[in-house]
Parts: sequence; structure tokens; C-alpha cells
Amino acid sequence: MIRNLQALAGAAACAFLTVTAALAADEAVNISIDAAHPGATISRHIFGQFAEHLGRGVYEGVWVGPDSSIPNTRGIRNDVVAALKAIKVPNVRWPGGCFADEYHWRNGIGPRDRRPATLNPNWGGVIEPNTFGTHEFMDFAQQIGADAYLSINVGSGTAAEAADWLEYLTTPQPTALGKQRTANGHPEPFAVPMLGIGNEAWGCGGSMTPDYYVSQLKVYARYARNYNSKQKMQRIAVGPDSADTSYTKAVMEAWKNRVWAWDIEGISLHFYTVVKWPPAYKATGFGEDEYATLLNETRRMNELLRTHSAIMDQYDPEKKIALIVDEWGAWLAPTPGSPEGFLEQQNSQRDALIAALNLNTFARHGDRVRGANIAQMVNVLQAMILTHKDKMLLTPTYHVFRLYLPFQDATVLPVTVSGGEYRHGELRLPRVDALAARDAHGKMWLAVSNLDPNRPAQIALDVAGAVFKGARGETLTAPRVDSVNTFDAPRTVAPKPLSARASGKQLKLVLAPASITVVALE
Ligand code: AHR
Repeated sequence: MIRNLQALAGAAACAFLTVTAALAADEAVNISIDAAHPGATISRHIFGQFAEHLGRGVYEGVWVGPDSSIPNTRGIRNDVVAALKAIKVPNVRWPGGCFADEYHWRNGIGPRDRRPATLNPNWGGVIEPNTFGTHEFMDFAQQIGADAYLSINVGSGTAAEAADWLEYLTTPQPTALGKQRTANGHPEPFAVPMLGIGNEAWGCGGSMTPDYYVSQLKVYARYARNYNSKQKMQRIAVGPDSADTSYTKAVMEAWKNRVWAWDIEGISLHFYTVVKWPPAYKATGFGEDEYATLLNETRRMNELLRTHSAIMDQYDPEKKIALIVDEWGAWLAPTPGSPEGFLEQQNSQRDALIAALNLNTFARHGDRVRGANIAQMVNVLQAMILTHKDKMLLTPTYHVFRLYLPFQDATVLPVTVSGGEYRHGELRLPRVDALAARDAHGKMWLAVSNLDPNRPAQIALDVAGAVFKGARGETLTAPRVDSVNTFDAPRTVAPKPLSARASGKQLKLVLAPASITVVALE
């Protein structure tokens, strides 16, 4: 049975000696950081977000309109903007997802009261009012300080439509499309640093064979041009669906044999922590079986990155093409009573651990994984933020993204962890997962997750090649692994301060069961 984690967290913080004594017979976890052999840079873009026109993700979650009683700036809610600014969102992928392959950008420009109502057949068949379009999205991205990552419509659009959108967005010239953008309130060209060429072309984006998609990719990559010379644009092709390597091989082979007329800079990978379709694992009210099974499932990300990176290495040993995991996260059973197709789910301490494990994995593959987008930002799937009318709460996953801020653009340091396993039934998981890095100011950081929901972990940390006196940071614990934040109790799961002093070359930290801790070494 999962014990009461809050009691243990409290014990760890207030009665260190008692917990240490209780642990005497338990195996300590040794963590060694090798500060002398830095690895790859952890691109800040692995902390990217995904905002699709789906359920209450955009409408209500981001856009409330300028006339709303909810405080907003040009229709975009201020509370959500402030929360996202605080986690330094590097990029936002928009408008989908499956939605992107049925999106026609011209419906979302010009006076809002004259925009057509269309349908959103993928997600509940609801009316899409098109009030949140190109200018509103760019305004939102600018308000939170994020790069725009646009997905163009390859599934049901045309290359000409995509080319026009890019010209409308990026040209500084007074072309008809450039003038139209000016007339719509934005004389300066927009920057589009990331461009997705289709979405899930193997699925909702057109059920294309790899070869057929490659033929489309060549056309779209040629004509969807960037005219903003002040800003580079990374073009990202559709890549693998989880473990399927057919797209990885086809796209990389085409890229290797490309002619001057087209190019790409990245391919995407989609992998959800779901176990089986349709998603049935509950977001709350689950036991240790569901806890351990989902953590085990999410660890598949490492193997997928290894497999796809190895294929990419065959065609691109210099690692010019980035692997962008632009959809990932836990996809759980929908919140009972929520509208069909809205993909609403609560977010627990287990989701926080899923987030930490994936971020650690992306960072370890930092030589190839240079971007990722959690699905999705607000009110959809593994969200950062949940809203209800004028209320907003930060989820446990949000707190992980906040704790991990020092890892944005930091340099990975090799870590060795020896501490045994967390076992549940047939499942064997490492008891502790750790990531270390040095930031631009030379400060060393350690993120360490205790996956065991029943036992605290006593960490003995040493660092080869550096001297440190202690550690200071925060820890994210929860009363139970299925604890969530609600509008009535929004801080049930929230980080608390934690510090420890080194004795000699070693530092001891006690981690609460099922917790995530990030400390700076001082
Ligand atoms: O994130 C929800 C959906 O999952 C996206 O629209 C699609 O790309 C994926 O299948």
C-alpha cells in the first residue's frame, strides 16, 4: 500500500535524525557527478509547450476576448500569461496537432467579428470561431516571451496556401500579403523560428505512406519560405510514431540525398505515456499498480530516442538534424463528465514524476534531442495550467518545469547513480533518477527524483572535479502519489525549500518517497 507521503516528507524535513535512523538498514543511494567531463548542452527548447485548438486549451485557457471580465491583455488572460512567463516557455507549437491539418489560416485574420465559424471535427465537432488566429497567437507568444512554432497544413491544405501564410507572416516587402498583414495591425514581419511541415502524416495528418509524405515534404519545404532575414527558421518534418522507424528512415534517407531545392533542420517524434488505447489509466484515485506501470511506460522514451537517434546517425553523423519530441506526456482517461473529445484530465504527483523522467531523458540525449513540446499547455492532457472561468491553478507538472529552469541551456554533467531498484510486482525501475548540469554562470545543479512511493531515499552525493559546501533548492512532494491541485486547494502539491551542508567531500540528502528535488551545489 502507498504510505502517506506527506508524513514522510515532513519527517524528512523536520526530524532528519529519526528518518536517518529508520533508514540505517536501508540501502543508501550514491550519486557521483563528474564535473570534469561536461557533455551536450540541454537546449532550452526541450521545455517547449503545445497549444492546440482542442477543448478548452486555447478558448478559455488562453483566449477570453478583450470584453471578458477575466483580466486580459488584448483578449489573452493575464493570469495564464504571468504563470507561463515565470517558466520561461521557449516555444509554443500551434495550432495543432490534428487540428493543424484542417486549419485554413485565412479564416483567422482580419476583423474578428467577420471571421467565419468553422468546425473542429477532430475534437468534439465543436464550432471553431476563428477568433484566435495568427495575430492573436503571435501576440500571445510575444506576451509570454516564447518563439512561435507553427504547424502548416499538409493534410488538407495546399503548398500554395502554406506558402502564402509564410509570406503573409514573414515578408518585409509591400506585397499584397505583406500589405494585408500591415492592414491587420502588424507592419513588422513576424518571426517564425520553428515550422512543422505537417503533423502525424502517418495518422490524422493524411495516413500517408513514408514515401508519399517524403514527396509532399519536398514540395512544402521548398515553397513555405521564410522571408524574414533577421530570423532563422528551423523546418521540422514529420518523423516517427513512437517505435515505428519507417518515417525516420524514409525522411533521413531523402534528406541525405536531397537536392539544392529543399532542406529541413529537424524531424519530430510523438510518444505518449498511455500503455494502451483508448487511454484508460485514471488521473486520480489510482493505486500503486497504475503508478508503477505508467512510470515504467514513460521510461520507454529513452529506448525510443536511442533507436531513432541511431538511425539518424547513419544518415547524419554530424547531427545536423535535430530530433524534436513535439508531442509527449501522459494521456489518461478523461475527467468524468468532461465533454467528449476535450481530453481533459487532472494532473497528479505521478505526472510530475513522468515530466521529470522525460526531461532527464531528453537532456541525456541532448546531442540529438534539441526540442520537445509537452502535450498540452492549458486544460488539455498533461497540462501546466488548469482554468475554470476566472480561476487558474498550477499543476504538479508546472512545478517541475519551474524547478528545472536552471537546466535551460545548461551543460550536462555525467552522473553515476547506484542505489538499487524500486520493485512492484514484476516491474523493476531504478529507485532514483538524476540529472546534473552546469549553468552559464558556472553553478552546478542536481535534479533527483525518488521513484519509490514507499521509501525515502538517503542520497550520498559526491562531485569529482569540484569542491562544494552544501546544497540549496526545492523539493516537490505530495500527500499521496495521486494528489492533485484543485481550485479549492491549489497548493496541495507545491515545492518546498530544502538545504543540506556537506561534510568533507560528501553531502547527504533525504528525499521523500515519490518526490522531485532540484538543488544548486554551493
Ligand atoms: O495532443 C492531442 C493529439 O494527439 C494531437 O492533435 C495529435 O497530433 C496527437 O495524435
